[in-house]
Amino acid sequence: MVIGDPVEHSLGPKMYNLVYEKMGVDTHYVYIACKVKEESLEDAVRGIGALGIQGVSVTIPHKKNVMKYLDKIDDLAKKIGAVNTIVNDQGLLKGYNTDWLGVIKPIEKIVRLKNKKVAVLGAGGAARAAVFGFSHKGAKVRIYNRTLKKAKDLAKEFNCDYASLEMISDIKNMDIIFNATSVGLHPNDNQTPLPKKFITNKHIVFDAVYVPYETKLLQEAKEKEARTIHGIEMLLYQGIEQFKLYTGHDAPEDLMRKILLEHVK
Ligand code: ATR
Repeated sequence: MVIGDPVEHSLGPKMYNLVYEKMGVDTHYVYIACKVKEESLEDAVRGIGALGIQGVSVTIPHKKNVMKYLDKIDDLAKKIGAVNTIVNDQGLLKGYNTDWLGVIKPIEKIVRLKNKKVAVLGAGGAARAAVFGFSHKGAKVRIYNRTLKKAKDLAKEFNCDYASLEMISDIKNMDIIFNATSVGLHPNDNQTPLPKKFITNKHIVFDAVYVPYETKLLQEAKEKEARTIHGIEMLLYQGIEQFKLYTGHDAPEDLMRKILLEHVK
């Protein structure tokens, strides 16, 4: 189940139900989306235990608030300050965070993160998981954000660097660029958070935006012969980790990617 508000566009039900069906995972697995308003969050969480629901994905705006209603929170989720996955372990509700793995895993397939210079664009929820993940893996992170105060606060929390967008030309010397802003998200397909002139063929450019599948940022990065990672990979890898937590089985990566691509391309 996924809880959030809104949840109408969640790809979770489509992805997990097809995977359960194709893998032949026990038929008692079924995944649904439930719109839960902020004032009903506590009741909704109590319902997980009462109904014996095995696992719940948590999305905007509940990732932080849900923590106070859980029995146990994983140490890394505590450090991030957000839970996106609840597992019902024989009545005990445990909170985890797999969002940061969605950022880290696709990059680690290409390079080791230790000592790499990483630029994170944005300082909201997606940036938080990314900044934690990169720092946790020993990368050197600099946060760039339109509202400098938010960059400063996030940088302080995770002990990293920050700069205003006016300093963005520094990005040329970075190894990895991660876009955690919503710039370029449909219907603003023609926008990009980073002028093309600052991208080089040495960069790895990863965009958290996955609608459209190929954002303007990624198109321009390809034109500059940078290596690119699509937002869908973040969705996929956080889901792969969730699947393991929910079912105890390894997730079928290729099948999950295929299903996600069919829905966003
Ligand atoms: P999420 O939880 O998905 O990360 P969010 O918390 O609303 O969403 O964060 C959105 C991020 O995109 C913020 O860093 C925001 O910058 P501000 O902190 O200055 O608001 C950034 N963002 C959104 N629209 C932007 C724009 N037009 N130009 C630059 N940054 C933008």
